[in-house]
Amino acid sequence: MYSIDKKFICDKEVSIITVKREKIHFSCMNYGATVLSIMVPDGNGKLENVVMNYQNIKSYDHNDMYLNAIIGPTSGRIKDGEFNIGDTTYFLDKNFIHAHNIHGGNESFAFKTFDFHLKESKSETTIIFTLFKDGSSSKYPGNQNIKISYIITDTSVAIDFYGTTNQDTLLNMTSHLYFNLSGNLKRDVLDHTMYVNASRYLELDGEFIPTKFMLTENTFLDFRTPTIIKENMTPDVRKLPTKGIDHPFILDSVDESIMQVKLSDKESKRSMKVYTSYPAIVIYTHNFPDEHKLEQNKIQKPHMGICFETQFEPNGIHVDGANKAILLKDEIYHQKTIFEFSVEG
Ligand code: GAL
Repeated sequence: MYSIDKKFICDKEVSIITVKREKIHFSCMNYGATVLSIMVPDGNGKLENVVMNYQNIKSYDHNDMYLNAIIGPTSGRIKDGEFNIGDTTYFLDKNFIHAHNIHGGNESFAFKTFDFHLKESKSETTIIFTLFKDGSSSKYPGNQNIKISYIITDTSVAIDFYGTTNQDTLLNMTSHLYFNLSGNLKRDVLDHTMYVNASRYLELDGEFIPTKFMLTENTFLDFRTPTIIKENMTPDVRKLPTKGIDHPFILDSVDESIMQVKLSDKESKRSMKVYTSYPAIVIYTHNFPDEHKLEQNKIQKPHMGICFETQFEPNGIHVDGANKAILLKDEIYHQKTIFEFSVEG
């Protein structure tokens, strides 16, 4: 069952789509194809929201945290905001410390209004967002047809990323969902337990630019056995320039059927497993809150959420051995990420 409502974000009329299935309530809007809430049961069967969300819908207008939005054409930072394809150099917005591109710059998909339609069957409800990116008014080459689908079953939310281009281009889309399994943001995520299938990560330089492959072993990024987040993210780690985890984890096997991440909250008994066809996940522990209030008038504090931004390696075009995320003319881009919820213990 679903419903559609209209609201305004400043001068933009947006559609709010709410899907209610027995064990999951999901809400999103066509601005940035942004998720507004995901409600799933705790150990007592109580449905509560497991993503961060703003109190006021207007806060989503060009939000610096990209809260729960779809990111593209490229995710993460691109060094110096430029890249080459063939003999041509393309220059992007330098919207990170005036030196590098982050999350697509001013033309980020997070700030676009998508068209949409829905499909519903007994087992799932699918919201299909579409966007035409016109190459003539873009710093990225080519016209692209983008399609982002949210597929909601009784226990999961899957995101399907699809795109085509009429000219070789860079395309690396992700979802910037901030999870918190305590329910309605009762606690931060430091007491959540996390497993990540990654023995390598990308090291960051002093300006947060991914530079080279390193081993997670003996670092605070080793989550190959389930670990309470704060055991690795010690006060010293929170004093680093990143102020916590904000790193691309390189998955040990690229296979949609393998569980790549498991996040659990002992108190609420909620668990979430992440599956993806992408080779990397940027894990970000909400280290830089913004000034906007969250639902129920909550003031943001660091680590109230955790993002699993499944993608090709960010800045891969400038990193030896990484996927470059070039989509060739007439090729099809198709990647999938599944967030599966359960109650355990
Ligand atoms: C993440 C990025 C962080 C921060 C965040 C948005 O993807 O790695 O450094 O910029 O987005 O607030």
